[in-house]
Amino acid sequence: MKHEVFEKNSMLLLIGILVVVSIGGIVQIAPLFWVESTIEKVKGMRPYSPLEQAGRDIYIREGCYGCHSQMVRTLRDEVERYGHYSLAAESMYDHPFQWGSKRTGPDLARVGGKYSDQWQAEHLINPRAVVPESIMPGYPWLAQTKLDVEDIAARLKTLRLVGVPYTDEMIEKAKTDLAAQVTPDSRPARELLRRYPKAKVGKFDGKPGNEPTELDALVAYLQVLGTLVDFTSFDASGPNAR
Ligand code: HEC
Repeated sequence: MKHEVFEKNSMLLLIGILVVVSIGGIVQIAPLFWVESTIEKVKGMRPYSPLEQAGRDIYIREGCYGCHSQMVRTLRDEVERYGHYSLAAESMYDHPFQWGSKRTGPDLARVGGKYSDQWQAEHLINPRAVVPESIMPGYPWLAQTKLDVEDIAARLKTLRLVGVPYTDEMIEKAKTDLAAQVTPDSRPARELLRRYPKAKVGKFDGKPGNEPTELDALVAYLQVLGTLVDFTSFDASGPNAR
């Protein structure tokens, strides 16, 4: 028996294990040094607008991830229920990402555009008002709390540090852009759309007045989820298959 020498010598066995395990490791890891990117290139992805980003921070603060995932898995039942499975590129600007695995409520990766702003606002204030059997808690204070906008430029700057491609202009105009997103049909709103294509502009919380509330921000965030990638031009077989 050739392996007897390994079985009787623990040091030799250890070295043998290390050699075999590192072959496995190299096979898995080495190709990553040669592929250009592990994230497929897709059209349409952009950083969050300042209002959407502020809403995202509230989503995290309120712990919505405790009941909601944000990743449509590549399984038939998921795709039929939620839409196209999530792409890595769709969360490349998410710090931290919200994939999650806990689904007391439905996955939210593609909830953008599924309901009206009014539905989203009413649902967050009191879920039972629109879904009688809902067990989701209400978040009525969001409608009454003015959004803290003072540090929005600093937040975008911090995200730039970890790789989100905010430009100097985006950071400089962060506060104006934030206010513009709740001021439909205005010149600043048109400028916002130039910087953040497909951003939804509106009175998200349904209240008049241009002072954004936390509810405005959270609804703006929910409405952008899953809406940025243009799936008509996305080829799932990847660039190497053509
Ligand atoms: C205790 C668990 C729980 C928490 C926490 C929770 N939700 Fe929900 N959520 C649910 C359940 C259950 C549903 C399905 C019933 C309904 O629509 O209300 C739901 C539904 C939703 C829907 C509708 C999804 C769809 O496709 O119909 C949205 C949007 C949503 N939640 C957003 C949020 C946000 C934003 C937060 C954080 C502020 C949050 N939820 C916190 C349990 C939760």
